[in-house]
Amino acid sequence: MDVERVFHMKAGNGEASYAQNSSLQKKSMESLKHILIKSAIDFYTSEAPQTLTIADLGCSCGPNTFAMVKRIIEGICKSCCEMSSTLPDFMVFLNDLPTNDFNSVFVGVPEFVEEMKDCSGASVFLAGVPGSFYGRLFPSCSLHFVCSLHSVHWLSQVPPGLLDQQGKSINKETMYITHRSPTAVVESYFNQFQRDFSLFLKSRSEELINGGRMALAMSSRKSIDCFDKNTTLLWDLLAQSFALLVSQDLVEQEKVESYNVPFYAPSPAEIEDEVEKEGSFSIDYIEPYEFSSSSGNAENDAAIITMAVRAIQESMITYHFGGGEIIEPLFQIYKGLLTEAIKKDEVKSTHLVVVLRKLP
Ligand SMILES: C[S@@+](CC[C@H](N)C(=O)[O-])C[C@H]1O[C@@H](n2cnc3c(N)ncnc32)[C@H](O)[C@@H]1O
Repeated sequence: MDVERVFHMKAGNGEASYAQNSSLQKKSMESLKHILIKSAIDFYTSEAPQTLTIADLGCSCGPNTFAMVKRIIEGICKSCCEMSSTLPDFMVFLNDLPTNDFNSVFVGVPEFVEEMKDCSGASVFLAGVPGSFYGRLFPSCSLHFVCSLHSVHWLSQVPPGLLDQQGKSINKETMYITHRSPTAVVESYFNQFQRDFSLFLKSRSEELINGGRMALAMSSRKSIDCFDKNTTLLWDLLAQSFALLVSQDLVEQEKVESYNVPFYAPSPAEIEDEVEKEGSFSIDYIEPYEFSSSSGNAENDAAIITMAVRAIQESMITYHFGGGEIIEPLFQIYKGLLTEAIKKDEVKSTHLVVVLRKLP
């Protein structure tokens, strides 16, 4: 299944609930922001271009859309103020798939531009760039800084090779990777990640100037173990929720068995290998961070995570199952299972922060 087609459908309820309920993303971004901001400031203080060109890849269209760019601009303006140097102009490109609701993003642009002028004196120019980041988006050597948050773990497509010759799923028990998945499933996911991430690196290497930086934060695994519970648990709980719907005859087993997600959480070593193979970047920083999803109120935490998972999954599930009737009961069950898992402190997530520097 092609990601552009499934994300296309998120203009419905899924997108709306993402826009209202992105606190999960916000929480982790708050903790990681200083590394991303620091890498942008480092670049600016060493190169000081008159116009700093920034691209945010996978910007979405919720309350977080301007958040990262805002912090980067504020950080650079503060640094300029401390050094008594002139502010650069900022050219910001916001990228997402063409099916992203860019209209709702654009509505917020004048307010954002004014806010930046008022609070930091910065002149900000902004444009939307619809297209897949698995391919070229910008002219050669046109970018100074690229950032992407919570997006590059989405693959360009569900990996081929998850069906047998009769068209039946070989990944029957889950929609991602589980310790019961056949080796061929693990390999298919890994191969798709390699193809996608190497294309991502190659595309950005042509677009960034020499010395330009790229800071990414994405779902990850702490180790090479691809069954890392931090990345598989949320999918396992979704598989269990589907199994309950099957037992109630609300959905066909075969349809559930053939549902797989275009997602891959790479380990730091897998990222390092791809960066080395592609050869255009050096790694300034790479570090996995673990977040606990438990704040002491399991029901509340479960509701937040359920809304975040639903926001992304709703369009894909609706597309695969040919309708959205199962969405409500599915995510009610999911929230219940998640609440129990959070009470046992089983729900944790790992995010990788990686800062790359374009080699000459
Ligand atoms: C979880 S949202 C992250 C939004 C925002 N960056 C944040 O941190 O809150 C992931 C976004 O990545 C976008 N995305 C997924 N695959 C993409 C691709 N191949 N090219 C561009 N955007 C993509 C999705 O459309 C979605 O808006």
